Amino acid sequence: MSATTSEGIRLELDDIQSGALHERPSPYVGTYLLLRIDVRPAGRELVRRLHSVVDSGRPSADPAHDAWVTVGFTYQGLKALGVPEDSLDSFAPEFREGMAARAAELGDVGDSSPANWEKPLGTSDVHVALAALSPDALRLEGVVEKIRSALDGLPGVGLIWRQDCYQLPTGRTSFGFKDGIGQPAVEGSGMPSSNPKEKPLKAGEIILGYPDETGELPPMPTPEVLGRNGTYVVFRKLHTRVAAYRQYLRAKAASREEEALLGAKMVGRWQSGAPLALSPERDDPELGADPQRNNNFLYADDPRGFKCPAGAHARRANPRDSLDRDGSVDVRLHRMIRRGTSYGPLLPEGVLEDDGVDRGIIFVFAGAHLKRQFEFVKTQWLNDGIFIGAPLEKDPLVGPNDGSGSFTIPERPIRRRLQSLPPFVVTRGGEYCFAPGLSAMRWLAELET
Ligand code: HEM
Repeated sequence: MSATTSEGIRLELDDIQSGALHERPSPYVGTYLLLRIDVRPAGRELVRRLHSVVDSGRPSADPAHDAWVTVGFTYQGLKALGVPEDSLDSFAPEFREGMAARAAELGDVGDSSPANWEKPLGTSDVHVALAALSPDALRLEGVVEKIRSALDGLPGVGLIWRQDCYQLPTGRTSFGFKDGIGQPAVEGSGMPSSNPKEKPLKAGEIILGYPDETGELPPMPTPEVLGRNGTYVVFRKLHTRVAAYRQYLRAKAASREEEALLGAKMVGRWQSGAPLALSPERDDPELGADPQRNNNFLYADDPRGFKCPAGAHARRANPRDSLDRDGSVDVRLHRMIRRGTSYGPLLPEGVLEDDGVDRGIIFVFAGAHLKRQFEFVKTQWLNDGIFIGAPLEKDPLVGPNDGSGSFTIPERPIRRRLQSLPPFVVTRGGEYCFAPGLSAMRWLAELET
């Protein structure tokens, strides 16, 4: 199977791991597994076996195929497999450094700093990351069983971490919001566009080996067989402080309606997913649930942010056309595929006390450029406010706030400013991975020296 883009480029979907471009099912259950390779030949044998596990998970009209596994390797993992030095050196510098080394830059400080990360996240023990996703527990067990068989009789490879995830009964994430709506369409991927007002991204923004938005081929690991059809994957475990978030809104709002409004202003969407840009006054669950309409908007008609504040999470993370005025920022260079999944139980509605239970989101971002996609969005748009003329403000929901942050809600006749924002999200750990194409997996399995 391959697909041709409008410019005649054939995206080799047969060689691309399906997890890179495949929407996750809804509802879903899944599991993330991390492995360490202690013995090189065992590691290569594992890659050989995983090749067929990944291959069998390609999306198909047959519902039996709806569960799939994605494999990624850390830089340490590629070293453990014996990838030659010149090839290792050809990977993006941020990938080679690893996420823990980028912590200060990314705002992973204090409670979020690697010293406090859940082990083995951020250590050189993490070599292989596997994500298995399925519409139901039975089919998940089927794919996990395939992974178990791949590990069978390979004492030189160890399972060192497992994190299960599943869609909460509300169908939303722990803060109560529908997630996974704003997503770029990618030329040639077959993924439907959710925003007819935005042109699909050039395939090379997400998959290596194809021209990107600049018209160039992005830097790609060598040899070509290793880089082509691969993508970089950002994996983060983010703990959500749901009780603190609810307490904050309760303290700032005079009524439940106002709590919902402030929560929506912070995100840019109502809990149902309805965007403030289309429904600024009140939630509209029908709009939130309608994939034809819930992402069909831009921001240029709201330059002052009266409908959706410029500092709202979703508007920061994808300002759409709102930065086009001076032409200095091309927002399209900072998009990525985003797959969030929930872990931990729901904090029951109405509970304001922390129950001490770990809950949050496993975030996965895929793209061809770690630096100008994930790292740029995190550092320039979520952790900083210079780009919206509010240098002291960080993202109100996911920014590294420390209790002194503020968030401006433009209103007439006078704006409102929320003060003393605490951190609502704590990084528990993460890794930068490279998800190779299927030919690249064969190449890795057949390495000899
Ligand atoms: C626990 C942390 C986070 C939570 C709870 C969260 C929640 C949300 C929610 C509720 C939305 C709106 C719904 C949607 O469009 O899917 C959203 C959108 C988005 N988020 Fe986050 N997010 C988190 C962290 C991040 C991080 C760290 C990044 C990037 C570095 C990010 C990037 C985005 C992007 C790109 C969008 C889509 C914006 C659009 O296209 O309109 N998010 N997020």
